[in-house]
Amino acid sequence: MIPHQDYKTEADRHDAMEQILRQHRHSPDALIEVLHFAQENYGYLPRELLGRLAEQLKLPPSLVYGVASFYHGFRLEPRGRHHCTVCTGTSCHIKGGTALLAELERRFGISCGETAPDGSFSLDSVRCLGVCDLAPLAVLDDDIISAETIDALADKVCQCLAEKSSTGKSP
Ligand code: FES
Repeated sequence: MIPHQDYKTEADRHDAMEQILRQHRHSPDALIEVLHFAQENYGYLPRELLGRLAEQLKLPPSLVYGVASFYHGFRLEPRGRHHCTVCTGTSCHIKGGTALLAELERRFGISCGETAPDGSFSLDSVRCLGVCDLAPLAVLDDDIISAETIDALADKVCQCLAEKSSTGKSP
């Protein structure tokens, strides 16, 4: 596996994709791994990229798009400047994680997996972040946010987002 890097230019990203495709001999069986690699390096899976990968792996574009949109871990839209992930794993779900996700969807007017139209904020969910003792919880950029009640937690997420936005602090 090619180690993750912060590629500086589109050409660097393109070269890295070429390298991973060559490494897998352009095998259609490598689709999932190639999609993971692409997402790691582009941040999401643009439609044009999916089309190119379909061509390179000799797969129907509809199949590649279908796989990318089926699996929860793949993003078809870029993340917002600030990104919130809500844990809906078992421990968090029991303590209201799913309700928290619904509350944040309501407050921000976007659904899980979406980015606000102005690109300021995006929201998604994950199945267990491995810190179940803190359940329920959300992660805003790199900050873990936890609270006793769902309302308090949603308030904290909004407050933290407002602070980050006002200081122009990026992740
Ligand atoms: S279930 Fe949420 S951190 Fe484990």
